[in-house]
Formats: sequence, structure tokens, C-alpha cells
Amino acid sequence: MAYETIIVEIADHICVIKLNRPSALNALNSQLVAELGDAVRQAEANDKVRCMVITGSEKAFAAGADITEMADKSFVDVVSDDLFGASMSPLQEARKPTIAAVAGYALGGGCELAMLCDFIICADNAKFGQPEINLGVIAGIGGTQRLTRFVGKSKAMDMHLTGRFMDAEEAERSGLVSRVVPVKKLMEVALEVAGKIAEKSQISIKAAKDAVNRSYETTLAEGLLFERRVFHSMFATEDQKEGMAAFVEKREPQFRDK
Ligand code: HXC
Repeated sequence: MAYETIIVEIADHICVIKLNRPSALNALNSQLVAELGDAVRQAEANDKVRCMVITGSEKAFAAGADITEMADKSFVDVVSDDLFGASMSPLQEARKPTIAAVAGYALGGGCELAMLCDFIICADNAKFGQPEINLGVIAGIGGTQRLTRFVGKSKAMDMHLTGRFMDAEEAERSGLVSRVVPVKKLMEVALEVAGKIAEKSQISIKAAKDAVNRSYETTLAEGLLFERRVFHSMFATEDQKEGMAAFVEKREPQFRDK
């Protein structure tokens, strides 16, 4: 698929997917969503890729779903097309780690896209918001559910009911993002973090991702059991032997994803 609304670059085991509709602040139209889904699926299937970074421009990660494309749709249209339903599945179901590198606006579907990634690193100029209330709708790509889990009910309600934006400092304080960096350093830091993830055993990376994600879906007792079973299973891998032997021998591990 030739992409027109995103730019994909793969280097050093990292796939960078840059949203690229500058004239609309990277608003998520159907073409961009389809291209993003395709790029994530390709990265999943590409053995060279060990981590994905999804980013936008310095001004906007994404200013939301494309309002001009949605404005005239009817109830029947959005139900029939399952607007923003299955189209976001590739990212939600990605087994490889995904990092959102957010600068500028991450609003509505843009904020939701960032939250679909495994974690968010943001620039000091980032602004997060769920302003759908101002358009006479509500969030529709998980914002009411995921934002609440990230920042708690009080802040999530405040954001969804008023449509106010949260700046980078508040986003870090509230647990929405893992780190804040100067805007000019955003990609350097995101690539450094992705590089560190790419160096690890991808068996344990997948196990860690599965276990953390499980914490959102189950009770504490079930989650702890899931974690312990997965932890035990790691002892069947060569990478566990290598990782622990390397520590004992005071050398760097050479993981082989086995
Ligand atoms: C379509 C958009 C857009 C969007 C911006 N643009 N956001 N086009 N959909 N979501 C376009 C503008 O129309 C404008 O095009 C150009 O991008 C630049 O935007 P400006 O408004 O001129 O820039 P600025 O004054 O800097 O304001 C930036 C902004 C504002 C605060 C981000 O653009 C804004 O409020 N955008 C809408 C944010 C929003 O409501 N997002 C939620 C969408 S609903 P022209 O052609 O005039 O230059 C959503 C629902 C998800 O996401 C769930 C669906 C199921």
C-alpha cells in the first residue's frame, strides 16, 4: 500500500510511523486510519521490527477524528460503518511494543490514539483533551474508558464534561504520560527508549506487555496468578538462562528471542 497520510521509516529495529496531514493537524480521516492500520500490521509481520513509535508533528500529534468527514454522517451511517470500531484493531492488538511520541495537540481521537499505544512520551508543548462534548458528541475510540483508567474518575470527568485541555506537566503528574521532554528532543528520546526495548529478549517483552495489559482486564487475584504462571514459563526460555548467566558472569546478555 502506498501511503499518502503517514510516513513510515524503519531503522535499527524501530518502525516510526509519522502521521502526516499537516493541513488538518493530522486529523484522523478514513484514509489515515486505514493507512495507519496497514502500517501497524506490516510492522507486526516484519521480523526486523522490534518496537513501533507513533508520532505526529511538533504542532499536532492529532487534533482528533476528522470533523469535516464526520459532520454529515447519519446514525445509520456510523452504525453500518462501525465508525472507528474495527479500524483501530491493529494497534489495539499489536503484540510488539508501541510508544506514542506526542507533541502539540492530542485531542479527541488523537488523545485516544496515544492511549491505544503501550505508553506515551510527550513533549513539553503537548496538550491532551477530549473536547468532543463541544461538538455535541462524546469520545468514541475508548476515551471515556482509557482516560479514566489513566488519570482517575475525577480528572476524566472534568476533561470529558468541560472539554478542557491538559498540559504536559499535568499529564505527567496524573499518570497519563510516562515522561515529558523538551519538544526538540522528543524523537531523540523516543528512539532511545524504543532502542532500549528493542535490545531486550522479545519473549520477555511480549510476556511483560501481556501481563501489564491483563491488569486492566481482570481481578487482582487473577492477574497475580496470570503473572506468576507467565513468570514461571520464562524459565523454559533460553533467554532466561542467558540473562541470568550474563549477570552472574558480569557481562552484557546476548538475547536470541528463544
Ligand atoms: C478536521 C481539523 C481538525 C479536526 C483541526 N482541523 N482539527 N479538521 N478535523 N479534528 C483543521 C482546521 O479546520 C484547519 O483547517 C487546520 O486544521 C488548522 O486548524 P486551526 O483550527 O486553524 O488551528 P488552531 O487555531 O491552531 O487550533 C488548533 C485546535 C483546533 C485547537 C486543535 O483546530 C481545534 O479545536 N480542532 C478540533 C479539535 C477537536 O474538537 N477534536 C475532536 C474531534 S472529534 P483550515 O482548512 O481551516 O486551515 C473526535 C471524536 C473521536 O475526535 C471519536 C470518533 C468515534
